[in-house]
Amino acid sequence: MRRRIIAGNWKMFNNISESQNLVSKLVSGLNNQNLIREVIICPPFTSLSEISNLLKGTKIELGAQNMHFEEKGAFTGEISNDMLKSVGCKYVILGHSERRTIFGESDELINKKIKKALYSDLTPIFCIGESLVQRENGTTKEVIERQVLEGIKDLNEEDVNKIIIAYEPIWAIGTGKTASPQQAQEVHKFIRSILKDTFSEATSENIPILYGGSVKPNNAEDLLAKEDIDGALVGGACLEAESFISIIKA
Ligand code: PGA
Repeated sequence: MRRRIIAGNWKMFNNISESQNLVSKLVSGLNNQNLIREVIICPPFTSLSEISNLLKGTKIELGAQNMHFEEKGAFTGEISNDMLKSVGCKYVILGHSERRTIFGESDELINKKIKKALYSDLTPIFCIGESLVQRENGTTKEVIERQVLEGIKDLNEEDVNKIIIAYEPIWAIGTGKTASPQQAQEVHKFIRSILKDTFSEATSENIPILYGGSVKPNNAEDLLAKEDIDGALVGGACLEAESFISIIKA
């Protein structure tokens, strides 16, 4: 069976005390129960070290929201794989649409980051998704196919099996406008067909594909019930312990 994962992307929210507060609520709310889903939280860089300590002995895993592809050097403002691992990160979100659209990250750059993460034992949560214009002019599949293939370019089958994919239609992110379970399922299935054509049926069946874009406690269950939706990447609703927990338990 494929892994089932709920990941929280905190984006640029929460200073240290707010972070501590949210994590304590999450830890006590989940109470180390045996959950059917893995839980990952991705706070801002400044909170990672502190949160890593707070998560010791819990089942919640830690991820970052971005990473540079170089090992070290004169790259002002950037963070390396080693820095992330040294504070306890196991995951890193790469290719988020906010990185692509606001900060101009290209498929080629994202591919470099994905390779670096994999070669340094960090699991990429690789985000893809079409814009509203692309959906409306019928190019969703074309865009998704390009993003997937460019993002995993040059990876061998073993490495590709270590990735988590997150399908996040840009028009659904932070807008309160979720893709319907059918719309999401259709794209997830399409992503599996790309993986099958490029690698194998086994690989396409093995890679977890999360849905992201206005996942909330009231729509999580229907989305997560779909055959090819293995979990969620949650933005806004992960900033409140109660709503994140109810999505985890959906
Ligand atoms: P949202 O964000 O849940 O606030 O739409 C999702 C994301 O950007 O990962």
